[in-house]
Amino acid sequence: MITSALASRAEVIKWMEDFVGEKISEFLKTVEDSWQPADLLPDATVDNFFDEVKELRERARDLSYDLLAVLVGDTITEEALPTYESWLMTIEGLPKDPQGPWMKWNRAWTAEENRHGDALNRYLYLSGRINMREMEASTQYLIADGFDLQTDDDPYRSFVYTSFQETATNISHRRVAQIAKKQGDNQLAKLCGHVAADEARHAKAYKAFVGKIFEADTNEMMLAFEDMMRKKIVMPAHYMRELGVDLGKTFGHFTDAAQRIGVYTSADYTDILEGLIKEWKIETLTGLDEAGERARDYVMALPNRLKRVADRMKIPELEYKFRWIA
Ligand SMILES: [Fe+2]
Ligand SMILES: [Fe+2]
Repeated sequence: MITSALASRAEVIKWMEDFVGEKISEFLKTVEDSWQPADLLPDATVDNFFDEVKELRERARDLSYDLLAVLVGDTITEEALPTYESWLMTIEGLPKDPQGPWMKWNRAWTAEENRHGDALNRYLYLSGRINMREMEASTQYLIADGFDLQTDDDPYRSFVYTSFQETATNISHRRVAQIAKKQGDNQLAKLCGHVAADEARHAKAYKAFVGKIFEADTNEMMLAFEDMMRKKIVMPAHYMRELGVDLGKTFGHFTDAAQRIGVYTSADYTDILEGLIKEWKIETLTGLDEAGERARDYVMALPNRLKRVADRMKIPELEYKFRWIA
């Protein structure tokens, strides 16, 4: 990347400070207005705690194997939050002033996300259906292994990534909620619904950030969008693994399970991409140079290409036995 491009990126990010400040109050909630995991789970300080846990376990008994596998994978992904926060801090050009809007955004976003892993983890523990030690080992692995999102510490690429990923997590938590409801666990459905609603706000904010960058630096933003789509958006937990299992295996089985029960499919990937194209008005962007025009052509044609590939893909049937599930 050339130095002048980097410099103007830092300028754009700095110029966005007021905008980000506004988006914090628009898209993140204050602590006072936030739900907490304790609102959605049995309270251990009251006498009927054991009755409530018993009811929770009875509801959880009927959850399908694939749904549990997806829930554990989602929980591990949420629990790897330290990785995401430290990744945000490596993005080049973000002003590091602790009282500035960007650092406030990073902290407040992290603070909201931290509730997701807590809520899901506690639910799974109480459900009695999970081998918690195995799940915890996978979380420790994932944080230790880290990830490679191929965003090159670039703010433009990074916010394409978060726009995509927050939308994907919204979809998957929402679908888990719907399936849990169908399988008779309304409490779990409510919990996942709350998580999904947070993710929807995060997605809106990151899409707004990218929309703002498109206003200021259209061509570079277009090139960054294209580059991320060529590399493909990988899930943050792509290095997920189990104790004693080779790297790469567990994650594949997790995504198979998600695909099989319709929590997150290749059609969703394409839908998200189409949503981003619409959101950022890619079709009608003006001021692109030749490379920018080619990047636009590539991105505009990608959804149909992906649909053709998805048509040929088979939904994997194998139910893998995860070490996580008791
Ligand atoms: Fe989350
Ligand atoms: Fe999120």
